[in-house]
Amino acid sequence: MRISGWVYAGGAAAVLLGGLMVATAGWSLPPAKSQQIGYRGVGMVQSKDASVVAAQAKITAPPPAYEASAEGQRAKEVYPNLQVLGDLSEDQFNRLMASFAEWVGGEQSCAYCHNPENMGDYSKYQLIVARRMIQMTRTINTDWTSHVGQTGVTCYTCHAGQGVPKNVWFKEPGPTLPGHTKWVGYTGDQNIVAKNAGLTSLPHDALSEYLLGDRAIRVHTNTALPSGNKATIMDTEHTWSLMMHMSESLGQNCTFCHNSRAFNAWDESPPQRVTAFYGIRMSRAVNKTYLEPLTSTFPRERLGKTGDVAKVGCATCHQGLNKPMNGAQMLKDFVAELGKKP
Ligand code: HEC
Ligand code: HEC
Ligand code: HEC
Ligand code: HEC
Repeated sequence: MRISGWVYAGGAAAVLLGGLMVATAGWSLPPAKSQQIGYRGVGMVQSKDASVVAAQAKITAPPPAYEASAEGQRAKEVYPNLQVLGDLSEDQFNRLMASFAEWVGGEQSCAYCHNPENMGDYSKYQLIVARRMIQMTRTINTDWTSHVGQTGVTCYTCHAGQGVPKNVWFKEPGPTLPGHTKWVGYTGDQNIVAKNAGLTSLPHDALSEYLLGDRAIRVHTNTALPSGNKATIMDTEHTWSLMMHMSESLGQNCTFCHNSRAFNAWDESPPQRVTAFYGIRMSRAVNKTYLEPLTSTFPRERLGKTGDVAKVGCATCHQGLNKPMNGAQMLKDFVAELGKKP
């Protein structure tokens, strides 16, 4: 077939597909819910897919915990090998272990972290990770109230009843199509779907740059000519990629945090943007201080394609909601256990 033959065939296919999209129900837009969040006429509107809203409303925190007495002998008097929970009362310690089984252990319960033959055997890697996770959770709840407020987090916020949280991220290997090198057929990271960029073809490494590294996010210029800010188009694409991750993780549009008239202007942004600013710093600190150093503790099958550990992003806690667990007060019943300085 000559070139023009292909063009005609392509054109005919496009018309046919177009017709199908109009004629069949599967292609129509889902019903959307929209809500005005700013003054009339400024375009500050949030719209969401109604079926997603309904599914998200079902995400809830576990039932409230029973009362645990802070009195009585300390846990370390009973179990001398405790390193982080020794100062709790025995009652608080037992309640916390029962909660760990529910929040993280899943069907395996205590055996997810313990050798059931001998609870004092500290050889399972899950137990070593869990110990560090207790310290991490305490740091989030004490040093990052600028983000988590008094609501706080427990293991359940991220784990939701399972050993490996559903929404974690790994470094993506990047644009390595078969047979492509840095020179021949190099894509420059264009037109390749990146999971970490909310399934767009924006740069695949933005989360490593911003939620592990501390690359600058400011790309807007403050002057008419590009003399003030030296950010490149690539810097802008990286910022956008991060913003896609944030929007997807919280289930919100850009206007949840920005007035799209001026994305840079803090004085025109909704207050949520300031909370998000601290969220970026908190995620970065958690990944650098707690998760990355645990890399060698995890077995190979838990690591990513590039041998890196699973890391925390906005979706790890938020799971598509602007307030994790639909705003449930997670820390309230566990201040003594998870809300004090590590
Ligand atoms: C998510 C992991 C996890 C789960 C699930 C879990 N534990 Fe633990 N457990 C730990 C950690 C971590 C320590 C050590 C804490 C420390 O060093 O202060 C510990 C310590 C203990 C100890 C003290 C052992 C010793 O002799 O030093 C006992 C007893 C215990 N847990 C009982 C239980 C029971 C019973 C369950 C189930 C109801 C349970 N644990 C579920 C993580 C877990
Ligand atoms: C901010 C989110 C977050 C919080 C809060 C959190 N974790 Fe984790 N946890 C993670 C991530 C990320 C991993 C790594 C995922 C993996 O195991 O591959 C992880 C891994 C673990 C593992 C190892 C699972 C496995 O089999 O590989 C255990 C056990 C664990 N956490 C226990 C806890 C306990 C106990 C708490 C509460 C004291 C807690 N976590 C709080 C994010 C969190
Ligand atoms: C959850 C809140 C949130 C959402 C949603 C969000 N952003 Fe942002 N955005 C921020 C924060 C916070 C900063 C500043 C980060 C910093 O300086 O560390 C920022 C910075 C930016 C910047 C750089 C501004 C400058 O000063 O150079 C641009 C551009 C931007 N966002 C665009 C977007 C776009 C486009 C979307 C939608 C795809 C979006 N944002 C969604 C919170 C958000
Ligand atoms: C460790 C868990 C955790 C992580 C990780 C996390 N958040 Fe949050 N975030 C929370 C909690 C908890 C709240 C609720 C705070 C409150 O009720 O005062 C919250 C609240 C927010 C809010 C305010 C929502 C509202 O409706 O007012 C924004 C915006 C936000 N987070 C953005 C982010 C962004 C962006 C990231 C990633 C860069 C992120 N968060 C990562 C736990 C987390």
